Amino acid sequence: MSYGPDNPHPFSQLKTELIWQGKYDAFGARRAPMRLKLPFQTVETVNESAQQRQLTLDMFHSGRPTEWRNRLVWGDKKYVLPALLDEFAGKVNLIYIDPPFNVGADFSFTASVPPSPFENSAGEEYGNEVSFLKEPSILEQKAYRDTWGRGLDSYLQWFYETLLFLHELLGDDGSLYVHLDWHVGHYAKAILDEVFGSDKFINEIVWVRSSPRANIKLGMSGGHDTILFYTKSENPIWNPQYVDLSEKYMDSHYSLIEKETGRKYRLDNMISPNPDRPNLRYEWNGVLRVWRVTKGNMAKLYEEGRIVYTKQGVAQYKRYLDESSGTPLSSVWQDIRPVNSQAMERADYRTQKPEALLERILKASSNEGDLALDCFCGSGTTAAVAEKLNRRWIACDLGRFAIHTTRKRLLSIEAVRPFVVQNLGKYERQAWQSAEFGDAQTAALLAERYRRFILELYHAQPITGYAWLHGLKQGRMVHVGAVDAPVTPADVTQIAIEFRKAVGSGQDAPQYAAVDVLGWDFAFELNEVARQQANQARIAMHFVRIPREVLESKAVAAGDIRFFELAALSVETVVQKNQLTLKLSDFVIPPDDVPEEVQRMISHWSQWIDYWAVDWDNHGDAFHNEWQTYRTRKDKKLALQVTHTYPQPGDYRIMVKVIDILGNDTTKTLAVRIE
Ligand SMILES: C[S@@+](CC[C@H](N)C(=O)[O-])C[C@H]1O[C@@H](n2cnc3c(N)ncnc32)[C@H](O)[C@@H]1O
Repeated sequence: MSYGPDNPHPFSQLKTELIWQGKYDAFGARRAPMRLKLPFQTVETVNESAQQRQLTLDMFHSGRPTEWRNRLVWGDKKYVLPALLDEFAGKVNLIYIDPPFNVGADFSFTASVPPSPFENSAGEEYGNEVSFLKEPSILEQKAYRDTWGRGLDSYLQWFYETLLFLHELLGDDGSLYVHLDWHVGHYAKAILDEVFGSDKFINEIVWVRSSPRANIKLGMSGGHDTILFYTKSENPIWNPQYVDLSEKYMDSHYSLIEKETGRKYRLDNMISPNPDRPNLRYEWNGVLRVWRVTKGNMAKLYEEGRIVYTKQGVAQYKRYLDESSGTPLSSVWQDIRPVNSQAMERADYRTQKPEALLERILKASSNEGDLALDCFCGSGTTAAVAEKLNRRWIACDLGRFAIHTTRKRLLSIEAVRPFVVQNLGKYERQAWQSAEFGDAQTAALLAERYRRFILELYHAQPITGYAWLHGLKQGRMVHVGAVDAPVTPADVTQIAIEFRKAVGSGQDAPQYAAVDVLGWDFAFELNEVARQQANQARIAMHFVRIPREVLESKAVAAGDIRFFELAALSVETVVQKNQLTLKLSDFVIPPDDVPEEVQRMISHWSQWIDYWAVDWDNHGDAFHNEWQTYRTRKDKKLALQVTHTYPQPGDYRIMVKVIDILGNDTTKTLAVRIE
């Protein structure tokens, strides 16, 4: 049957809609994002007092809600956003996102090797700081493939899925600001209209970030970003903002000066533009007009000295410059400069946005105590400004270096409130394991298939007949740690016992007394104890971290999985009465990620270290960051020792966390007795 007015073609019924490849599946159904609600794990608390820590623990154990803590989450937004839903759907007041755009700028970063602490004969530090460009990690490249892998189509699907979760997370009074530029701003607008409703579109903000460049061959120099502003409902939080008046404006508009006080002022017309207001029609100073204020108010203003008469005796209002809030903000923002190389706030993160930009957004669309979210936090601008403006915040990023930069930046804020660092850790891995190998009939088979997969990636051959030894690689035995538990010293003991039994028996027998112990996590105390155990058993054990990239099928398919040996950290302890002195005495990282020429410039192990922190009384839970020191742009020196006074004698477990210049962390546990 042919189409026509009585049988309209489906195309004639279509409404405005942006379509990209992948928006609909083969059956014509809308593709929805994965909604895995994985639980968060707190891996670190920062700035928490010992009492508060105990109180929080007690409240948690008794099932009472614990006090709010701001949250810095390391993870991909595709896992983090759905994981936030149970707790925060409808509860976020403000969301600002500055999504990734261009792989080069978003993921690579400039890492710096600080100067050596050795001094030369002139008493100056030896050598200069060396910077190098750290290329994106495999995981970061994978995130790029997720977004731009199939060009614009995949980016739009990725963006659409992000928006669905953000819309659910926003409260009724909430606002969303999406920071983009002219490359995709227009597509994003169409998707935002679809998810939020075009009636919730409030402004397209043009942030003029740079002056025009001269060397443009064709067309005009592009110097602005676009920020799209949407609200969830008709009643969002809104605090009008003002911009400082320009010098030119002040000179031309506030040209009068009050003799007695020196205050600048101008005179405003007091005659109402609407002549049809009988109640405002009266005679004042012998002049009959329709005025802007009632007679009573006119009298009050006169008393206050605010009325000045023209020659003809017409009242005018005296408006002082120092009482002006400025010009109401327009959607073109020209008064905020990008972060320059000398700026105090500079965090050396390539895509860092200025704090003034976030300050304006947070002040306009949130109040003190409100909750702000940024799931692409980068250097942590949103979190830092929210912290300073007394808002609560959740900041997330996929990049290890972004999380480290944000943590350092927050710590540099005076009296920063306690916050936690979280990830999805083993739950993400469990979800991956059951998705990958879930069709195995038994738990043993599941574990077996998982181990074989890891061994294959590690280029090791699987072996059978042992409980703790799973493979062989170039004459060394290999143990594969469980997907959801750290490798513990007890595991190391078992590995050593089994290894001893295995030596010299059968064709799978190892050629060297060496075992590679692969693990996702290593129990904090493992390093030292395990190394001692291994030495006693005269086995060369290498502790090797299974990289998170293993979870990413594309990275696996591309064959770009690299395993890294754990960094070795040496810490000396000296106890004197109730005082403990910790001294970092060595740090070795496997430097695969650092260009050779940069490695050659490193003359002291401490140059690898960017930051270190201590938990003085660890109870085997998260790392409680009670003291920390780090290099800053201004001060590149790093203290390598610290002394702590214990109020109570006892046996203490101390945890030291070192973060290297690439953002990788290494943790070490020590035991001390304070008499
Ligand atoms: C343009 S930068 C944000 C810069 C930030 N506004 C600032 O002021 O520093 C984008 C960030 O998104 C992060 N990112 C990219 N893909 C991600 C994903 N799937 N989940 C979470 N973060 C992601 C990148 O690591 C990068 O730090």
